[in-house]
Amino acid sequence: MLKLLQEYAETIAVEAGKWIVQKRGQFTDLQYKTNHVDLVTEVDYASEAMIIKRIKEKFPHHLILSEEAAGNCFDVLQNETYCWVIDPLDGTMNFVYNIPHFAVSIGIVQKGMPVVGVVYEPNRQELFSAARGLGVTLNGNNITVSNRSTLKEALLSTGFSALDWHVASPLRYQFQKGFGRCRNIRILGAAALDLAYVAAGRTDGFWQQGLSPWDLAAGILLVQEAGGKVTSLTGERFQIATGDLITSNGYIHDYIVTMLGTEV
Ligand code: IPD
Ligand code: CA
Ligand code: CA
Repeated sequence: MLKLLQEYAETIAVEAGKWIVQKRGQFTDLQYKTNHVDLVTEVDYASEAMIIKRIKEKFPHHLILSEEAAGNCFDVLQNETYCWVIDPLDGTMNFVYNIPHFAVSIGIVQKGMPVVGVVYEPNRQELFSAARGLGVTLNGNNITVSNRSTLKEALLSTGFSALDWHVASPLRYQFQKGFGRCRNIRILGAAALDLAYVAAGRTDGFWQQGLSPWDLAAGILLVQEAGGKVTSLTGERFQIATGDLITSNGYIHDYIVTMLGTEV
């Protein structure tokens, strides 16, 4: 069953991604959600509608939690019935500014745990895909986390939450904590891809606060299936509805926990 679900998630993520990429630089309706950095376009909505329609055609009884249609009812994630958790366009700000780094993210969660994770980046045509216990691939080839084991050789990424940018983002202090300790820090602007990049060994770790289940449901499974680690910011068990996390190749995990816990 997981294989079937995974293949279908891949098909619809690629379908939506290929459509989105044609719309790069061509959206017509830019709106603010909670504030002026929290953006949405008609392309986000149309991608979402396309994906939901395809899920309902094939799995009418499955649950769906999707960013733009969402609401805050995360209870569905704990259900025994499969719940499709969708970010129809992760990296909307990049999309709006015509920066070719965004993705479609589709996770399937059961009893609080992702069992399928698919992230498709249509600009480079990269399909990251995992099913629990069955490994993770990038365009069909197995991938694994990096093996760098010290913080000073680790390239990390993080991101600003759209909700706290205009107030006091904790990231201001977290950067200070990283200075001189890790090799460098990137803000790439699409959390699902931050996670996919840890899974592919392109970066060694990623942390962020204030994410939503649709940003990370697929990506955390990619990291886990690639041999990496996912925890809360303090190194405890990660719970999908909380949205604050550290992910890494595992070797440097405790160092990131300590780094973020340091007083500045
Ligand atoms: C955003 C991106 C970004 C992260 C924000 C998310 P969106 O998602 O993943 O990298 O820093 O917290 O909200 O709005 O582009 O789907
Ligand atoms: Ca997102
Ligand atoms: Ca989005």
